Amino acid sequence: MSITNENRDWKHEFEIAPGVVFLNHATFGPVPRKGRLAVEDLLRRQGRLESDPDVDDESYALLAAAKNDFAGLIGQRPERVAFVPNASFALNALLWGLDLRAGERVLVAENEFPAIVYAVRNLALRLGLQVERLPCPDGHVAMETLKQALRQGAAALPISWVQYFNGYRYDAESLAQLCHTHRCLLILDASQGAGAIPMGMAEAGVDAVACGAQKWLLGQTGAGFFSIAENPIRPIRPLYAGWLGYDWGYRFGDLQRWDRPLYDDGRRWEVGSYPYYSLRLAAAGVALLAECGIAGVYSRTQALIERLVRGLEGTRYPVQQFDDPDHRSAIVAVSGPHCEALREHLSARRIHVALREGNIRVSPHFYNSVDDIDALVEEVRGFDR
Ligand SMILES: Cc1ncc(COP(=O)(O)O)c(C=O)c1O
Repeated sequence: MSITNENRDWKHEFEIAPGVVFLNHATFGPVPRKGRLAVEDLLRRQGRLESDPDVDDESYALLAAAKNDFAGLIGQRPERVAFVPNASFALNALLWGLDLRAGERVLVAENEFPAIVYAVRNLALRLGLQVERLPCPDGHVAMETLKQALRQGAAALPISWVQYFNGYRYDAESLAQLCHTHRCLLILDASQGAGAIPMGMAEAGVDAVACGAQKWLLGQTGAGFFSIAENPIRPIRPLYAGWLGYDWGYRFGDLQRWDRPLYDDGRRWEVGSYPYYSLRLAAAGVALLAECGIAGVYSRTQALIERLVRGLEGTRYPVQQFDDPDHRSAIVAVSGPHCEALREHLSARRIHVALREGNIRVSPHFYNSVDDIDALVEEVRGFDR
C-alpha cells in the first residue's frame, strides 16, 4: 500500500516521549526531528569551523526558503515578509510604524490576548491615543459592535485572528472590508491561526499580520514574522533601522560605507544578525506543514476535535464550540467544575492541555492521533472530583 498524506503517520516526524499526549499547541509546539537535526548540524559546524563562517551563503539561502514557506502559509508574497523574534515585537513594530497622533483611537477587544493589550497601552500612554475596549459578551466582538465603534472613527484595529482561550476565529475578509470602509487599519495577530488554518492575507485584504513561530508553526521561541500588505490603508514605516536592513549583497568585506540602500522588501525591518538556530527550527516546522498541506492540517484537527466533542458529550465537561464552522479553529475550551484540579490530574498522567480563563483549553495539531483524543476523553470521564 502506498503511503499518502492521508494515511501517513506524521507523529513519526517528532520525538515525543512514549506515553506523552501533547494537546497544547496553542502554547508551544514540539520540535520536529528534522528541526533538531538542522540545529545540531549548525552547532556542530560552528564548533568545528571547517568551512569559512564569514561567507555563510547556506544560511542566507535557508532564510529565503523559510520566508517562502512562511509567506505561503499566510497567502502573501515572500518579499512582504519580515522575520522578527516574536509576535509582540511584530505588533510593536507595526503599531509604532503607523505614526499615530495624539487623540487618535485604537480599538481593542476586551478579551484580547495581552500581547496586543500592553503594546497598545504603552503606545497610547506615550502618544496620547485613545483606546476603545470593544465588548465581547459572546466571547468575541460582534460585527455590529465593531461597526458602531468604527463609525466614531478609529485609526487601527489590532486583533487576534483566533482567540487564544476559546478558539473563536474572525472572518479576516469581513474585518478588513469593514475596517477599510472607515479607513481603519487592520492588524491580525495570527499566532493562534497561522500554521493551523489556511489563510489568505492578500486575498482577504488584511493590512498587516503578526505571528510567532513557537506554536502552530512548530518552531521554538526566538522566531516569528510579520507581513505588511502591498497597499495598506495607512502607511506603515520602519521606526527603527539597523545595518542588515541595508543591502550589502551579503558580502561584508567593505563595511566602511554609508551609502548602502535600504532594502525595498521585508528585509528592511530585519535590523541585525539573524537568530539562525530559532529560524532553522521554524523553517523545519513550516516545511513539515507545507509537506502535509495546510488544508490537510486543518481537516485533521477538525476531525480530532469532532471526536473530542462526541467523546465528552453528556459529561460534566462538554466542549464549547462555536456553531458556525467558519468561526472555529484548532482550539477548543472544555468547561466544567474543578478545571484546575482536572488539569493537574491530566498533567500527572502526561496528558498536556492548558488551563485558560477557568476552562481546559485543548489544542491538537495535525500529527495527533485519535488515540491521543481517546486518552484525554477517558481521563476526563474518569475524573470524579
Ligand atoms: C494571540 C496571541 N498572540 C501572541 C502570543 C504570544 O506572543 P509572543 O510571541 O510575543 O510571546 C500568544 C500566546 O502566547 C497569543 O495567543
